[in-house]
Amino acid sequence: MNAVEIQGMAKSFNGTAVLDEINFKVRKGEIFGYLGPNGSGKTTTMRIMLGLLKPTSGKALINGKEPDDSNSDLRSRIGVLLENNGLYERLSAYQNLLYYARLYGVPESDRVEKIERLLEFAGLSDRRNEKTGRFSTGMKRKLGLARAMIHDPEILFLDEPTSGLDPESRIVVRDLILRLSEDEGMTVFLNTHDLSEVEKVCSNAAILEGGRIRACDTIVGLRKSHDKPVLEITLVDTGYAERTLDLLTSQDCAYDCERDDRRVTVTLNDESPSTVLAMLVTNGIAVEEVKNATKSLEAVYLDIVRRRGTTNE
Ligand SMILES: Nc1ncnc2c1ncn2[C@@H]1O[C@H](COP(=O)(O)OP(=O)(O)O)[C@@H](O)[C@H]1O
Ligand SMILES: [Mg+2]
Repeated sequence: MNAVEIQGMAKSFNGTAVLDEINFKVRKGEIFGYLGPNGSGKTTTMRIMLGLLKPTSGKALINGKEPDDSNSDLRSRIGVLLENNGLYERLSAYQNLLYYARLYGVPESDRVEKIERLLEFAGLSDRRNEKTGRFSTGMKRKLGLARAMIHDPEILFLDEPTSGLDPESRIVVRDLILRLSEDEGMTVFLNTHDLSEVEKVCSNAAILEGGRIRACDTIVGLRKSHDKPVLEITLVDTGYAERTLDLLTSQDCAYDCERDDRRVTVTLNDESPSTVLAMLVTNGIAVEEVKNATKSLEAVYLDIVRRRGTTNE
């Protein structure tokens, strides 16, 4: 059975469609990235999956069942971290975890050990007695993640878990998510608008744009779907790099072309890599190295958005 299965789901608010014909599956053990720009409907999808909103049509199945807020069996199997960390600021880190352990019916004999383990996991063992109101945003998020894990859920739903964090905390939180998957076999459904996050953390992803799923695959599969060859050309100096950029752009053989110091990364239109290299040589451009580059997920995403002419910038 799939951890999540969304079938022909649509959602409108006051007659305005926000989601349309949403279909995807999340297999057990996957870290699934639900990627889309702000306002594309990620939180709405998650709220439907959690039974907090009803879809206008179609359905969401979590562990084969339609979610329902009052379904305590389902509630015990899922962990949720929304934008708000769900912490009581006047309680300490330890007291917060204890509160949730009671709320979720964690047996009394297991509580202390579980809380100790989660404080350790979140790197907050030595801050256990401090009120969480004084915690930094990053510490709150780590504790929020620990809090979502208190009842050993099978599936974790995370809504933009690293947004608003500084780069260092972002790395720590991403690392915690990876550990949950690797060490505990947890299934993770992760909303994000951050492509690099999906590349670093997820095994699979769906790209949501304009209320529809535009692509859904493994990360490797998504990269491959962008089938134009990409060359990373290093020139002997920046002058040659400039000229390469001009030449490729003026000859219309570049779908996309970028220069970074002595390196030019070009996504080719229809020309073969050898034709392009021959052209550089004919024009007296001194090439130091050429590599076939894998297209980053970012290019795939931009390609999808551009094709629809709705850049988000
Ligand atoms: N309760 C609501 N009533 C009306 N419109 C809503 C409601 N919730 C979300 N929306 C609209 O639905 C769209 C998608 O929102 P959301 O799911 O929050 O996107 P995301 O999480 O991807 O940023 C937005 O245009 C938002 O304004
Ligand atoms: Mg959102």
